[in-house]
Amino acid sequence: MAENYFGEGVAERYDESSPEMFDPAVVDSAVDFLAGLAGDGAALELGIGTGRIAIPLSRRGVRVHGIDLSPQMVAQLRAKPGAEGVGVTVGDFATATVEGRFSLAYLVFNTINNLTTQDGQVACFQNVAAHLEPGGCFVIEVGIPQLQRLPPGETVRPFTVTPTHLGFDEYDVANQGLISHHYSVVDGRFELMSVPFRYVWPAELDLMARLAGMTLEGRWSGWRREPYTSDSTRHVSVWRKPAAPPQGSL
Ligand SMILES: C[S@@+](CC[C@H](N)C(=O)[O-])C[C@H]1O[C@@H](n2cnc3c(N)ncnc32)[C@H](O)[C@@H]1O
Repeated sequence: MAENYFGEGVAERYDESSPEMFDPAVVDSAVDFLAGLAGDGAALELGIGTGRIAIPLSRRGVRVHGIDLSPQMVAQLRAKPGAEGVGVTVGDFATATVEGRFSLAYLVFNTINNLTTQDGQVACFQNVAAHLEPGGCFVIEVGIPQLQRLPPGETVRPFTVTPTHLGFDEYDVANQGLISHHYSVVDGRFELMSVPFRYVWPAELDLMARLAGMTLEGRWSGWRREPYTSDSTRHVSVWRKPAAPPQGSL
């Protein structure tokens, strides 16, 4: 199974460490987008974490089930009001199976990059396709690889510099990998956490979707369907599984 980088300490501080992602305006726009796609069906969140999106989506009336590798993140979710309505399977979302079929599967906040091999990312799309009902869709929110900002010959780029959090991405361009190094103040001292990722371009994700029998329906630069352009730093993409052929057709 993949390694768990979201253990006890990380899980306890997760919500407060990314306050901008918990901003109600950010969460509401994601939930609006996802609820619209789920319709009357159920939703599957890959990497559900502490329930940042799953709990408000469930409160909107969508049945939500999640998969996560980290029992510690799931324990944080379970402690929250509103978690009663959310089911969780502990496992690797590239391979774990869940009962039932879903009208929507989603993978947000760059979490596709936590799968550090192409095989793992391809398997994830195939696993999603197997869980979707015909006509169901898969949504990914992920950053565009920031290679245009990496000067030739350099391998390290700062992504945050505040008095309490220093973050550097270390690129391995030949292997499409990066390691995010976080130096965060914990109890008055800097602690280091380094997490490996595989960055991935939109075109490669489209090909993975096609391998899994899904086609791109739309790509935007945010949850409010802002246009996706050459200047976009992230994308929200939707791929759809074909609808079932009408009964009686060959
Ligand atoms: C950045 S957090 C996102 C959590 C939540 N989706 C959110 O938006 O706040 C990534 C989550 O994905 C989980 N995760 C990472 N790789 C995974 C894998 N291969 N299988 C299942 N869960 C995984 C981590 O344990 C963590 O809870």
